[in-house]
Amino acid sequence: MLNYTDKIVVITGAAGGLGRTFAQAFAAQGAHVVACDKNKAGADETAQLVGGLGLEVDVTDAASVERMTGQILEAYGRIDVLINNAAIYATINRKPFYELADSEWDLVMNVNLKGVWQCTKAVVKPMIERFKNEGIGGKIINISSATVMSGSPNWSHYVASKGGVIGLTRSMAKELGGFNINVNAIAPGFTLTEASLNLMENAGQYGVDRGAIKRPSAAEDIAGTALYLASPLSDFVTGQTVIVDGGKQFI
Ligand SMILES: NC(=O)c1ccc[n+]([C@@H]2O[C@H](COP(=O)([O-])OP(=O)(O)OC[C@H]3O[C@@H](n4cnc5c(N)ncnc54)[C@H](O)[C@@H]3O)[C@@H](O)[C@H]2O)c1
Repeated sequence: MLNYTDKIVVITGAAGGLGRTFAQAFAAQGAHVVACDKNKAGADETAQLVGGLGLEVDVTDAASVERMTGQILEAYGRIDVLINNAAIYATINRKPFYELADSEWDLVMNVNLKGVWQCTKAVVKPMIERFKNEGIGGKIINISSATVMSGSPNWSHYVASKGGVIGLTRSMAKELGGFNINVNAIAPGFTLTEASLNLMENAGQYGVDRGAIKRPSAAEDIAGTALYLASPLSDFVTGQTVIVDGGKQFI
């Protein structure tokens, strides 16, 4: 059931970190991975690692997203899975919400929330066509964050953007269920990636004591849930947000 042979899996924000781990996990199951990122060199490096295709995209730019979608359809003729993983995360300016500049708020909303809408909008069009012609749907996975469940000081723009991703996921799921397209979100807790290590002091210990499982989360922990949500095993699961944080928060 976790056989991805010949599945076309598109991952945004795939230049490194979680996106690269997703690419490796899906490629290991036989998928053709398309690694997309604003950082073209990083996307190409990921693509090379997994024998896939690397593409440059700015998820905030409609023309760039349309170009990406066109390039994928030209190369493979279809898209089975989209993972909306690109975000402003490592480079975010952390400060009290009342000190944020408009430009800081807008950047985070544009990449983390509008980018998810923009990429999904472009990719579901050929998915819907395929459903109408062949009866085959697709899977959309949006990467949110467990921080939405608790809030976090000095991260209000990030938390709000990732909370928006959860609401967007639910609404998209309701609109797309009739086309056999599932839309779900993953809310990772603090996960060890190059970006998160740069962000947090004492990252190795961060939040571990608050978890039911007393170890930090690895990117592979998140990839397991992505594999499930992109597989037929989850065909009746849609509009959901799966918190993957070792049992720090229960909702
Ligand atoms: N690492 C964690 O602890 C953690 C926890 C919860 C959620 N997340 C989420 O997981 C995802 C991956 O996180 P990560 O730790 O790998 O961080 P990361 O910073 O390595 O990944 C984000 C990627 O998005 C790309 N990106 C940024 N703006 C873009 C744009 N406009 N267009 C296209 N690509 C763009 C970046 O180049 C980068 O490669 C993010 O959505 C992040 O918010 C991470």
